[in-house]
Amino acid sequence: MANTARSLANAGADSLVLFNRFYQPDLDLNNLEVVPNLKLSTSTELRLPLRWIAILYGQVNTDLALTTGVHTVTDVLKGVAAGGAITMIASELLRNGINRLQVLRMGVEEWLVENEYESLAQLQGSLSQINCAEPAAFERANYMRVLSSYSPDYP
Ligand SMILES: Cc1cc2nc3c(=O)[nH]c(=O)nc-3n(C[C@H](O)[C@H](O)[C@H](O)COP(=O)(O)O)c2cc1C
Repeated sequence: MANTARSLANAGADSLVLFNRFYQPDLDLNNLEVVPNLKLSTSTELRLPLRWIAILYGQVNTDLALTTGVHTVTDVLKGVAAGGAITMIASELLRNGINRLQVLRMGVEEWLVENEYESLAQLQGSLSQINCAEPAAFERANYMRVLSSYSPDYP
C-alpha cells in the first residue's frame, strides 16, 4: 500500500483518497441470485483509512483525503489528527441530511476552541505515525498487545 501510494505521488498525483468503499453484493439463497445490497457505513469502519493515513502522512508527497466511516465530530477530528487534509462524508448525509454538515462544522470549531487549537492545520498529522508518541501502535508488531487488551462482554 505504501509503495503504491508513493508511486502515485511520484507520478504526479496531488492527492490520494483513502479508501473508497468497496460495495459487495449479497447472496439470496432462496432465489439463487446475487443481489445488490447497499449498506451505509458506521464509524467502526473509520479505523482502516485512519490507520493508513496516519502511516502515510509526511511520508508521501501528496495530500491525503479520508473517506469511509466519518459520521461524527470526533471522526472528523481523528481523520485530521491522523493526517487527512480533508475528511469526506457520504453515508452520514444520506442518513441524516445535508444539514448535518453544519452541525459537524460547528462541533469541530467548538472542539478546537475548547482545546486551545489555533487552527485545524495545527491538529493535522499530530497523531500520525511520524509524530505520535508510540509509532509501533500502527504496526503489526503491536498485534499481540491488541489481542491481550480484548475483554469479552459476556459474564
Ligand atoms: C449512494 C452512494 C453513491 C456513491 N457514489 C460514488 C461515486 O459515484 N463515485 C465514488 O467514487 N464513490 C461513490 N460513493 C462512495 C463514497 O464516495 C464513499 O467513499 C463511501 O460511501 C464511504 O464513505 P461513507 O462512510 O461516508 O459513506 C458512493 C456512496 C454512496 C453511499
